[in-house]
Amino acid sequence: MNGLFISFEGIDGAGKSTHIEALAQAFREQGRTVTLTREPGGTPLAEKLRTLVLNDAMDPMTEALLVFAARRDHLQQLIEPALARGEVVVCDRFTDATFAYQGGGRGFDLNVLSILEQWVQGVKGQGPDFIRQPDLTLWFDLAPEIAAQRLSGARVPDKFEAQPVEFFRRVADAYGQRMKDHPARFACIPADLSREAVWQAVLGSLQTRGWLP
Ligand code: TMP
Repeated sequence: MNGLFISFEGIDGAGKSTHIEALAQAFREQGRTVTLTREPGGTPLAEKLRTLVLNDAMDPMTEALLVFAARRDHLQQLIEPALARGEVVVCDRFTDATFAYQGGGRGFDLNVLSILEQWVQGVKGQGPDFIRQPDLTLWFDLAPEIAAQRLSGARVPDKFEAQPVEFFRRVADAYGQRMKDHPARFACIPADLSREAVWQAVLGSLQTRGWLP
């Protein structure tokens, strides 16, 4: 069986978590082996970088370089080997988050992010133009005001969760732009619906592609 790479995206508070678990379970029920992972993180080194990125103050370029460094290790150690074994890789965030948070949120240069994307996501033996991207990206689209309400009163916010609503508006706009740039692999999930309706939208986008019955 061919490997399948699925990412979940959205602003903080968009409600991805329960659906990530449910999707992994749906694939397991089909007899598929699932690697469930996240970014920044997914390997011992990348998890250390995650702690720095989520907690320490740094300039936008440092932040971008650290998330791409974490991503390189994650791809090399975990994602590429799992895809080569024919597994389903379900990843909580990937490069679209860098374009949204560091690009949109922080205002960091999108051209530099594109260059880093080409360097970091190239795969040996696949040719110079190949860039590893998810086969499907489920973008949980939610108004920043609603996400902020959902987050308030939850756990102690990290560096990003503590950002004002205007930051998340820029992040959401950048996700929208990313979807326009990559329409084939993006599915927009209306995350303001009930949990069951959101799940049906997630499932539907997999069924449409023939990846789940
Ligand atoms: P999480 O809390 O959903 O696991 O995400 C961690 C935070 O890191 C989230 O606020 C988004 C942010 N982030 C970036 O700023 N850039 C990235 O490239 C990634 C993957 C996440």
